[in-house]
Amino acid sequence: MVRLDDTHLRPFLDDDALAALRPRVADAHEAVLQKTGAGSDMLGWRDLLLDPDDALLEDIESTAARLRRDADVLLCLGIGGSYLGARAVIDALTPYGTSRRPSSSAPDAAADGASAHPDQPPEIRFAGHHTSGAYLRRLLNDLEGKSVFVNVISKSGTTLETALAFRVVRAWMQDRFDDANDRILITTDSDQGALNALHRAHGFYKKYVIPDDVGGRFSVLTPVGLLPIAAAGIDIQSLFYGAASACDALTDADPDHDALRYAARRALLLDDGYDVETLAVFEPKLKGIGQWWQQLFGESEGKEGTGLFPSVVQYTTDLHSLGQYMQEGQRTLIETFLMPERTPDGLDVPKTDDDVDGLNYVAGRSMDDVTDAAYSGTAQAHADGGVPNMTLQFDEIAPGPIGELLYFFEHAVAVSGYLLDVNPFNQPGVEAYKREMYERLGR
Ligand code: PA5
Repeated sequence: MVRLDDTHLRPFLDDDALAALRPRVADAHEAVLQKTGAGSDMLGWRDLLLDPDDALLEDIESTAARLRRDADVLLCLGIGGSYLGARAVIDALTPYGTSRRPSSSAPDAAADGASAHPDQPPEIRFAGHHTSGAYLRRLLNDLEGKSVFVNVISKSGTTLETALAFRVVRAWMQDRFDDANDRILITTDSDQGALNALHRAHGFYKKYVIPDDVGGRFSVLTPVGLLPIAAAGIDIQSLFYGAASACDALTDADPDHDALRYAARRALLLDDGYDVETLAVFEPKLKGIGQWWQQLFGESEGKEGTGLFPSVVQYTTDLHSLGQYMQEGQRTLIETFLMPERTPDGLDVPKTDDDVDGLNYVAGRSMDDVTDAAYSGTAQAHADGGVPNMTLQFDEIAPGPIGELLYFFEHAVAVSGYLLDVNPFNQPGVEAYKREMYERLGR
């Protein structure tokens, strides 16, 4: 369960205004449940949790098992919603220091294309999310001699960054593998777009479909996210059913659910002139979740001249870069701490006899204790400095609780969009740069 602690928000909140907002929050929530709000034909991300397709989950798991058997590297090509969710979950749930899988450069392995390391998940690499040729060149150099599979993920099939990367990578694959097409998986629309045309022409290994009624930034629990996540060796059943349980918990009309309280508090603070929200994590593994959250909220709310600007920080690292601004800069910021309740740390501070570094005052305590002190101290200091802040606490960094967290944010942003009177499921503004870019490229 995700819990909202708003202790450090209360001095900044007008209780009467919050109470007055309750009926609108209830209406917005009801509009999500009943599919009566703007863009409600894009609520498939709820339907797929309310009516799970277990056969699809099993199919993804069996494809992932093949990838774990045969691939040293799964290269995922996608941008925005077509990669941020997978990267976020994989970063959060992969232990630190997980060694890069050695290449299958043994002649026998290379000959039959199989990995020499069947028990270790393949390394998951990402590309197609920017236009750096230097990055792509370097990446392909890194992949030499390895058993490479490619998952190209694009709902439209036309996104330039992803499509260009796929063109380059496909040529590279064809030069290196006799069975190149059997090493390519596509995740795309059921029928439309260039990826379907390429699939019809070349017959790739596998195709997964992104449902019509699920937008990119809501697609992490479709094959878009689930296939790379499963290939990374993560338990997608627990992830998916964690999200499904959070979805179930939000099916009644209770306006006091914490996802709705989160949406209401943000909306009220925006009304009061706070127009930047900083999501702060203390655990580096969670930074990717922050970047996924940033897209989810930025693209869903930032339209028609409204919305909080979503930014992500990783503390305590960023307390030594942005901490000064947070404490004393323009007072238009709110801050949301994202904190797991339990962290598997196990590292205690050792005691020394001479205490020359003067740190024996923390000897015997765990690094988690230090993190707790840093978190609660930062929350207090920032509140004292005029930054309304709240904390979203979830159980632990494990598949089930991460699934719950993903759904919590998806539901919150849908309600939040309706509170702002915008359609949270479109992104018309993203087209403007594309038009200008295509014109310059002579399309
Ligand atoms: O959330 C969204 O809809 C976007 O971020 C898309 O995911 C992103 O633009 C990529 O689009 P596509 O999957 O069509 O390549």
